[in-house]
Amino acid sequence: MFNLILFGPPGSGKGTQSEKLISKYGLKHLSTGDLLRYEINRQTPLGKEAQNFMDKGHLVPDEVVIGMISSALDDNPDAKGFLFDGFPRTSAQAEALDNLLKLKNAPIAAMLALDVTEEELIKRLLKRGETSGRSDDNNENVIRSRIVEYHNKTAIVADYYKQFNKVVMIKGEGSVDDIFKRLCVEIDKRA
Ligand code: AP5
Ligand code: MG
Repeated sequence: MFNLILFGPPGSGKGTQSEKLISKYGLKHLSTGDLLRYEINRQTPLGKEAQNFMDKGHLVPDEVVIGMISSALDDNPDAKGFLFDGFPRTSAQAEALDNLLKLKNAPIAAMLALDVTEEELIKRLLKRGETSGRSDDNNENVIRSRIVEYHNKTAIVADYYKQFNKVVMIKGEGSVDDIFKRLCVEIDKRA
């Protein structure tokens, strides 16, 4: 099993690059943001709880997202590997993921971390907010809260994987295709 984490701040291109990577490498895409938005669209109890946090640009509680990832791993016993997008986002999530993957004897091969300036992140998200309908994209204050959450709680997750030499920084600006090529070079070294 080949498992990757695509890491980076809000708007760094995780979703965009994930689509291309899963099709090239045959991985199962697990995006906690997408899973949460699916629950919100169906107005499930979990979705309603998560929406209160997401609308403010705050992280959803760890136990909610860890539970979702645990079920998704169980639901895909035959996957060749997983591409984690937007997860893990706290130290507690990183430790929970390690424990879940230990049970499957399938560690993380690498964390690919997209590096994008804050100015570019805000520009991209405000632009998408004009059409996406995502409640956390159409307000600059909420976008800034998402970035603050990233600095306060998520950036340290990279330190967790650095101790195992798993982190690779990738320049996340430029064309989508050029960034994709940079990612593939690093993946091919490890596949
Ligand atoms: P989530 O859905 O994960 O959102 P995010 O990480 O905040 O950011 P995005 O998904 O918007 O950005 P992205 O990096 O995927 O970039 P994208 O490819 O879309 O999380 C949303 C919320 O859910 C969180 O705030 C939290 O509340 C909750 N949540 C989710 N996971 C959680 C967890 N594990 N724990 C707790 N809470 C959790 O690109 C962005 C835009 O840029 C697009 O318009 C795209 O077209 C454009 N773009 C992409 N690449 C380029 C490029 N190279 N040049 C120019 N534009 C580009
Ligand atoms: Mg995304």
